[in-house]
Amino acid sequence: MSKRYYIETMGCQMNEYDSDHLSRILEDSGYLRSGDPEKADFVLLNTCSVREKAEQKALSRLGRLATLKRKNPRILLAVSGCVAQQRGVDLLERFPGLDLVLGPREIGNFRTILGKAEKGGMRVASINTHGTPAFFSGGFEYFQRHVKAYITIMEGCDNFCSYCIVPYVRGRETSRSPRELLDEAKSLTLQGVKEITLLGQNVNSYAHEKMRFPGLLAAMNEIKGLDRIRFTTSHPKDLSPELIQCFAHMEKLCSHIHLPFQAGSNRVLKSMRRGYTREKYMDLIGELRKARPGIAVTSDVMVGFPGETQEEFELTLDLMRRVEFDNLFSFKYSDREGTPAARMEGKIQEPEKLARLARLQDLQRAITLKKNRELINQDVEVLVEGPSKKGQGLTGRTTTNKIVNFNCDNKCINKIVHVTIKRASFNSLWGELTSSAR
Ligand code: SAH
Ligand code: SF4
Ligand code: F3S
Repeated sequence: MSKRYYIETMGCQMNEYDSDHLSRILEDSGYLRSGDPEKADFVLLNTCSVREKAEQKALSRLGRLATLKRKNPRILLAVSGCVAQQRGVDLLERFPGLDLVLGPREIGNFRTILGKAEKGGMRVASINTHGTPAFFSGGFEYFQRHVKAYITIMEGCDNFCSYCIVPYVRGRETSRSPRELLDEAKSLTLQGVKEITLLGQNVNSYAHEKMRFPGLLAAMNEIKGLDRIRFTTSHPKDLSPELIQCFAHMEKLCSHIHLPFQAGSNRVLKSMRRGYTREKYMDLIGELRKARPGIAVTSDVMVGFPGETQEEFELTLDLMRRVEFDNLFSFKYSDREGTPAARMEGKIQEPEKLARLARLQDLQRAITLKKNRELINQDVEVLVEGPSKKGQGLTGRTTTNKIVNFNCDNKCINKIVHVTIKRASFNSLWGELTSSAR
C-alpha cells in the first residue's frame, strides 16, 4: 500500500508556496496526499510566528498532532515554517513525538532531509538563517493544477521594523535568479496558469546582480499566454518611481497594490522604524492613482503599538479616511520576543487595543462597502477560478482583486470573461455575464 502524507499550512502565501513544493517532493518520493492526519504516514505542519496568537495556535496544533504518534508510532511528524525556525531544537525537547524541524531556508534540501528522517533512528532539526537559502529548483510541474499560481522571488527581510519577527526567522534578503524565475513562470503558463503572483516579504526590493524588480516585471510581462501579474508585499520606502511607472504601461500588471502603512502617526511610524512619513505614504498613493486610475489599494495596519496615544490612533483613522483603502488587514500589536518593540515602555492594555481595533474595523467596513457599491452597473473583467464556495454559480476575481460570483456554465472556468456587477456586499460582488469567454 502507498504511503500517505498530510500537510497543514498556516501563515502567509510564502508558506503556501513552500507547502506546494514540499507536497510535490513528497509525491515524487512515493507518497499520496491525504486529507486526514490519522491516515497519514508523514504529517507536516507549516507554521507562522508573526503574532503571538499564530505561534500559540501552531504549538497547540503540534501538540494535538503529536498525540497521533501514541496510536501509530511509525508516523513521521514534521514542523516547518517560522515557528520551526524560531524555536528550533527546543521543539524536539518539548514534543517528544516530533521527528523533524525544518527551517524556511532549508526546505530546498527537503528531499535529502526526508531521506534521513525516513531511515529513522534520528530526529533532525535543520535550521539556517544566514546561509544562502536552498530554493526549490528544477522541474516546475505545478502541483495544484489551477489557473493562478505563486512564485517566491525573494526570501527574507532586511528592514527590522521594531515590532517584527520576520527578519529573525526568514533571514537576510536573498533574491532568486531571473532566469530561474522566468523558467518557472513559463513552465507554469504552459501548464495553464494565467495569473502569477510574485511573492516576497519585501518583493519590491528584489535585486539579483543587475536585475531590479521593475526589470523582472518587464520580462514577466513578455511571457506569452500569461494574462495577469500581481506581486506582494511591497514596502512603501522601496516603492520607486520606476515601479510606479510599471502600472502606467504594463498591461498585464493587475490594478492592485498591497502597501502596508501600519500607522498614521509620524511619531509611531518612526518608533516602528518604517522609514517613511504619513505624508510620503499619501504622496505614493497619489502617484499610483495617477499612473493607474482606479487601482485598488489594500494595506496592513496595527493598533496599540507601545506608546500609541488616543490622538495618534485618531491619525490612523484619519489616514484611512483620506486614502480610502479597498480593504485592510488590521491587527492588534503583539509582543514578539527579541524585537525592540517588545522591550519598549507604554504597553497598551488588551481591552484598549480591542476597542481601537473594533472602531478601526467599523470604519473600514463602511469604506469597503462604499467602494464595492460604486462598482454596481459597471462592467468588469473576471478571471474565473471555478464553482463558488456557496454553490451559487462560478467565482473569480477582478484585476482589482475583488471576488465576483456569477452564473455561467463551466466553459467559463479558467477564462477571462466580462461581468456586469449587480450587487455588492462587504466581502464580494455579484454580477451577470455580459460577454463570453476570451
Ligand atoms: N513584509 C510585509 C508583511 C509582514 S507580516 C510588510 O512589511 O509589509 C504581515 C503583517 O503583520 C504586517 O504588515 C503587520 O501589520 C503585522 N505584524 C507584523 N508583526 C506584528 C506584531 N508584532 N504584532 C502585530 N502585528 C504584526
Ligand atoms: Fe517585518 Fe518590516 Fe520586514 Fe515587513 S518590512 S517583514 S513588517 S521587518
Ligand atoms: Fe508568518 Fe513567517 Fe509568513 S512569520 S507571515 S509565515 S514569513
